[in-house]
Amino acid sequence: MIRIGVIGYGYWGPNIVRNFHAHEGAEVVLVCDKSTKCQQRLHKAHPSIAFTMDANDILNSPSIDMVAIVTPVWTHYELAKAALENGKHIFVEKPFTCSVQQAEELVELANRKNLKIMVDHTFLFTGAVKKIRQMVDAGELGDLYYYDSLRVNLGLFQHDVNVIWDLAPHDLSIMDYVIKEKAEAVVATGEKHLNGVEDIAFITVYFPKRIIAHINVNWLSPVKVRTTLIGGEKKMLVWNDLEADEKIKVYDKGVQMTNGEGVYDLLVSYRSGDVWAPKCDQTEALKVELDYFVDCIVNDRTPINDGHAGLRVVRLLEAADQSLKDRGKLVAL
Ligand SMILES: NC(=O)c1ccc[n+]([C@@H]2O[C@H](COP(=O)([O-])OP(=O)(O)OC[C@H]3O[C@@H](n4cnc5c(N)ncnc54)[C@H](O)[C@@H]3O)[C@@H](O)[C@H]2O)c1
Repeated sequence: MIRIGVIGYGYWGPNIVRNFHAHEGAEVVLVCDKSTKCQQRLHKAHPSIAFTMDANDILNSPSIDMVAIVTPVWTHYELAKAALENGKHIFVEKPFTCSVQQAEELVELANRKNLKIMVDHTFLFTGAVKKIRQMVDAGELGDLYYYDSLRVNLGLFQHDVNVIWDLAPHDLSIMDYVIKEKAEAVVATGEKHLNGVEDIAFITVYFPKRIIAHINVNWLSPVKVRTTLIGGEKKMLVWNDLEADEKIKVYDKGVQMTNGEGVYDLLVSYRSGDVWAPKCDQTEALKVELDYFVDCIVNDRTPINDGHAGLRVVRLLEAADQSLKDRGKLVAL
């Protein structure tokens, strides 16, 4: 039985508590939040779970094996470091840390102590992303050309992070999982309109083999859109995460260029074949992810979304911030 302490019971924390607590091989024994309102909410949902307002009760408890950190990003590093130093595995919300340096330190510490880190890259455990990865692995799309995603809505404005740190970790973690090549450089532009942090941003990531990714994140959109296009040499797909059933549509479409008779003649031919919607598993991604982490701890396996994966995303976020400050200067990784 893995005994778990959860720090942070705001918006996302209750989902973490519910899923870990439902696992047969795990038990949430203590939840911490600085707010007393959270105590009432926890008591109503899970009367058997104890509550504390002091994170040290979790960090120092000899009977807790794993700590889930579900607090704002600027608190992750201190809490994660203390948990690792006290010999506990950690589950940390996205984005992993505020800086590359902090993430590297935590990865090194966990390695030295032989402890596991999982960073909550929830989307990797959705049926849609698993299906996309399977298709890429099987070569169904052919060589990849681009990854282009739109993640926009009205609000929720965060005061401690800009829209890139709030929304782009999802896309960057998916992109990192789907594209096998290592990102080479980042360009980001954006603007602040309301509360001193960027509320709209456009990120471009360059990869080897002419693969390019683009991510558009925006808190000022009148409509909510969660759409990603992935184009390959053989096929292209559109993933609309707001669709209830047919989330992914695969298009057997493409363009071929062949030389004509004259030296400068290029023959362009378009292929327009079938469109189909592969079946995607509908199980709650967070349940799949947290069950997997318990399994990784019990069977001493390294999660796909380990500290290194968290670090790669933070490296992209940091580079995007740097480019943003220089109004779109190319930042090499
Ligand atoms: N994976 C996802 O899809 C997803 C979705 C939402 C949020 N998140 C992440 O979850 C984290 C929390 O986000 P949220 O929206 O739940 O924020 P929130 O502000 O609603 O909740 C955070 C809670 O942490 C508590 N807290 C802060 N510092 C604390 C400390 N030192 N000790 C004890 N309690 C403390 C606050 O009182 C608050 O109740 C963020 O990193 C966010 O990016 C992830």
